Amino acid sequence: MKPITLALLIAVSAIISTGCSSGKKSMNTSGTVSLKEVFKNDFVIGAAVNNGQINERDSGSAALLQTHFNGLTPENIMKCEIIHPEWDRYDFTLADKLVELGKKYNSPVYGHTLIWHSQLSPFIQKIQSVDSFRTFFTEHITTIASRYDGKVKSWDVVNEALNEDGTLRKSAFLNKLGEDYIVEAFRLAQKAAPNTELYYNDYNIEQPKKRAGAIAIIKKIQAAGVRIDGVGIQGHWRSYNVPMKEIEESIKEFAALGIKVHFTELDLGVLPNPWDNDAADVNMKAEYSAKMNPYAAGLPDSVSAKQAQSYAELFQLFLKYRKDVARITFWGVQDGQSWLNGWPIRGRTNYPLLFDRKYQPKAAFYKVVETKTKPADAKKSF
Ligand code: XIL
Repeated sequence: MKPITLALLIAVSAIISTGCSSGKKSMNTSGTVSLKEVFKNDFVIGAAVNNGQINERDSGSAALLQTHFNGLTPENIMKCEIIHPEWDRYDFTLADKLVELGKKYNSPVYGHTLIWHSQLSPFIQKIQSVDSFRTFFTEHITTIASRYDGKVKSWDVVNEALNEDGTLRKSAFLNKLGEDYIVEAFRLAQKAAPNTELYYNDYNIEQPKKRAGAIAIIKKIQAAGVRIDGVGIQGHWRSYNVPMKEIEESIKEFAALGIKVHFTELDLGVLPNPWDNDAADVNMKAEYSAKMNPYAAGLPDSVSAKQAQSYAELFQLFLKYRKDVARITFWGVQDGQSWLNGWPIRGRTNYPLLFDRKYQPKAAFYKVVETKTKPADAKKSF
C-alpha cells in the first residue's frame, strides 16, 4: 500500500472511531460534553435568560450557560414594559447587564424584541393621536436599536404580527399605523442599527397559512429595499406532536427568500394543551385542573423517551439544513424555570427543556448530542 493511501486510511478510521465529530472535540476543558462544542460547525446553541441568570444569582444556570450555550436571548428584559416604562423614560439597567454577561460568557446577545403587541408599557394604551403613536414607535425603535448597535448580534424587529390564517393581527400598531408598520419598523431598525441582524419572529409560521403570511411580510420588506436578515420560528411545540413536515417545508421556503432561519424559542412541552394547538399567544389563559397537570410527581420514562426522540428528530432535521439554519435557541435553561410551568395554565409542572430541575442533562440532552456523536461519548462525564 502506498504511504499516502495508508495515511488516508488511518485518518478515516480515526474519524469513524470517534463518531465523525470527535468525542474529545465535543467536550469542554473539564471533559464535559458541551452542546455548543458538539454543534459548533452547525449552528449557534442559544438560551433565553431570566433576571436571576442575568444578575448572576443562579450558579447552576451560570455553569450550564457557559458550558453549553453560545447565544443569549433576554426572556423579558428587553421588552417594552421593562426597557421603556414611560413615555420619556427608558431603563437600560438589565439590558446593559445582559450585554456585559454576553461578553463575560463569550455569548452574543440576540435582542428580543422591538415591536410586539404584548408586554407593552401602560402608557402606550393611553396614546390617542396617530402622530403621537408614530413618535413613540419611531423613538422606541431608534433609541433602543442605536444604543445596542454593535452590542447585540440581532433584533427580533417585529414579533408575532400574524394571525393563524396569515392575515395581520389587529394590534395597536396595525390599528394606528396601518399595514406598512412592519416595513417601517425594519427601515427604522436598519437606520439605527446598521451592524445588527434584523429578523421577523413568530410562532406557528411553519404552518402553511401563517407561513404564507410571513413570506408575504418578508417579500414586502425586501421589495421596499429594506434589509431583513432572518426569520425566527419560535418553536413552542408539544413533544408528542412536532410538525416535522411543515418545519422542513418552512426551512426550504424561508431559505429560498435568501434569509437565514433561526429557531428562536425552542421548547417541547409534555403537557396537554387546553385547545389542542400550538399557539403561543401569551395572552391566552385556561383554568387549572389536576387532569391538565398529569406529571406533577415526576416525568414518566415513556414520556421522557418520546420527548427525547422528538428532540433528536428535530436536530436531525436542523442538521440536514445546517446551511440555512443559523441558530437554535432554547426558551430557558432548565425545566423548573420554563414559562410553560405558568402558561397557559398557572401552577403546572412541565418538562420542556434539555436540563432538569437539578440542572442535570435529561434523556433529550443525550439524544440531541447523539445526533452528532456516539452514545458513549454523549454520556461522558455527567
Ligand atoms: C414569555 C416569557 O417567557 C414569560 O416569562 C413572560 O411572562 C411572557 O412571555 N413568545 C415570545 C416570548 O415571543 O417573548 C414569550 O416569552 C413566549 C412566547
